[in-house]
Parts: sequence; structure tokens; C-alpha cells
Amino acid sequence: MIKGKHLIDPMDFTVEELNEVFELASQIISCPEKFSHVCDGKILATLFYEPSTRTRFSFEAAMMRLGGKILGFSEPNSSSVSKGETLSDTIKMVSIYTDIVAMRHPKEGSAKVASLFSTVPIINAGDGGHQHPTQTLTDLLTIKMLKKGLDNHTIGICGDLKFGRTVHSLIKAMSRYKGNKFVLISPQELKIPQYIREEILKKNNIEFIEVERLEDVIEQIDILYMTRVQKERFFNEEEYLRLRDSYILNKEKMSGAKDDMIVMHPLPRVNEISYEVDDDKRAVYFKQAEYGMYVRMALIAKLLGVL
Ligand code: NCD
Repeated sequence: MIKGKHLIDPMDFTVEELNEVFELASQIISCPEKFSHVCDGKILATLFYEPSTRTRFSFEAAMMRLGGKILGFSEPNSSSVSKGETLSDTIKMVSIYTDIVAMRHPKEGSAKVASLFSTVPIINAGDGGHQHPTQTLTDLLTIKMLKKGLDNHTIGICGDLKFGRTVHSLIKAMSRYKGNKFVLISPQELKIPQYIREEILKKNNIEFIEVERLEDVIEQIDILYMTRVQKERFFNEEEYLRLRDSYILNKEKMSGAKDDMIVMHPLPRVNEISYEVDDDKRAVYFKQAEYGMYVRMALIAKLLGVL
């Protein structure tokens, strides 16, 4: 039962609880109309202190498709935040008006802080370079649907592994399933944080390698997770520009990959996947975004306890 819980970190739910969400998501996928009134009369707040299109629209579309309503902001300068209101006061107010909150904030740990002041479920839609658990629900559902389950995969993660919160959450979540191996591909400057290497990978005896060249390892990979270099987390523009185009997945590189490999990306992409790859049947990033909406529908319904 996840009714009333917060979702701040991908490990907040047990594997069984995640399965409940995925089970409901697949029922929704097979007949979305059946669920179009389950959240009648409920309100979701979307508090986005940092830019987003995909995630915010995905949450809002999910709630609307369940029959619920939404309120919120996508630009903190248009809210009382610009007058200096604290996060705790905003959350206390918003939890009076709404039944559930999805929030994104540039500071690591902010969703956790919000959950301490909220009387309704808080969903972390990204806290700085830390975690992004609903992207992980999206990623896990995509893998489950397209790669037949969550065990025994070689997962290549490529790009900004240092600041990419989706990467941190995905490694945490996939480390709970058996037989998964990681191939971590990044420039030296953008390697995974030490806590992920030590506390997740090494501690759980998970096989992983860290390399710099995608071409050298692409043939081993079952799931290739491409990521954008996270411009907004850099202190130095020059450094960003130097690293931005470290990886560009193109047709030529794809020719070295397995026939049934899938290419995922949390989106938005900048340069890291060329458009010519979009027509390849292995490119599933737009399908992944679609699954994201369905899994958020399931999550909202479960947290509200309406299903
Ligand atoms: C990701 C994010 O915000 O961390 N995007 C998303 O949620 N769809 C990845 C990114 O911005 O690069």
C-alpha cells in the first residue's frame, strides 16, 4: 500500500510496491478510458522552481487524464517565492489547497524538506543533481515492457553521469534487480559521484566498468541510456562547451550495436543523439516519454488511494 506516501528517492518504494504501480500502469495502457474519472474532484499541484516541459506536462496530462484538476507554477518568479516566501510556507499553503504535489527544485534535498511540512503526498520531480524518481519509474516501465523484465541486462549509461539525476536514480533502482551490469561511459570530468560508486555499486557487488569511448563498448550493451550534459549545473561555461559534444550517437555507431538493443533518453536531447537515429527501430525515447505519462497516472492514483 503506497497510499499517502511521499516519493522522494527511488528506494522509497519496495520492489513489491513498484510492481503494484507498474501493474496498474499496464492496465491503464491497455484501456486508458476506463480510468478517466478515478481522480474526479482531486487536485494536483505542480510546483516547478526549475524549467521543465516534459516532466511537468507529463504530470499535468496524467492528472487530467484521470479526471483530476491541476494548479501550480512553472516559473517561481510569478509566485510568492519572488517575495521571499520560504519553501516550508509554500508547502504548508499548497497542502491546504491540493491533494498531492509534484515539485522540482534546483536544490538537492528540497523535496525531502518539503515532505516534512506537507500533509499531502510529495512527489520529487527532480531535486538539483540528486534524484528524479518518477523518471526512474518511466525508465523501469520502459525496460519492463520492451526488454521483458528488469533482470539480467547490461545497461550502458552515457554522457553526464556526474550531474545527471536520472542516472543516479536509475542506477539505484536497477541495482535491486538481479544480474544487471553497468557500463558507465563518460569523460573523466563527468564520472558518477563517489557515493553511487561506493554505496550502491560496490556495496551491492554489482559488476560495472567505467570507460570513455562509446564505440569500444556499444556491442556489449542491451540498454543504452543516453543523457544530456547538464548545462545548468556547471559553474563554468567554457567547461560546459568543451564537454557538451563528447558523445553523439549516430547511424555509424548504431551499426556496431546489438539488433535488439534499445536506446533510451530522458529527454530533452541537445546534440547527443543525431536525428538520423530517430527512425531506427531501436530508438525508443519517444515511446519512453509516453510510458512516463501512464506510469505517472498509476502513481498519482496509488498515492491518492483511489485505486
Ligand atoms: C531530465 C531531468 O530533468 O533531469 N529530464 C526529464 O525529466 N525529462 C533530464 C535532463 O534534463 O537532461
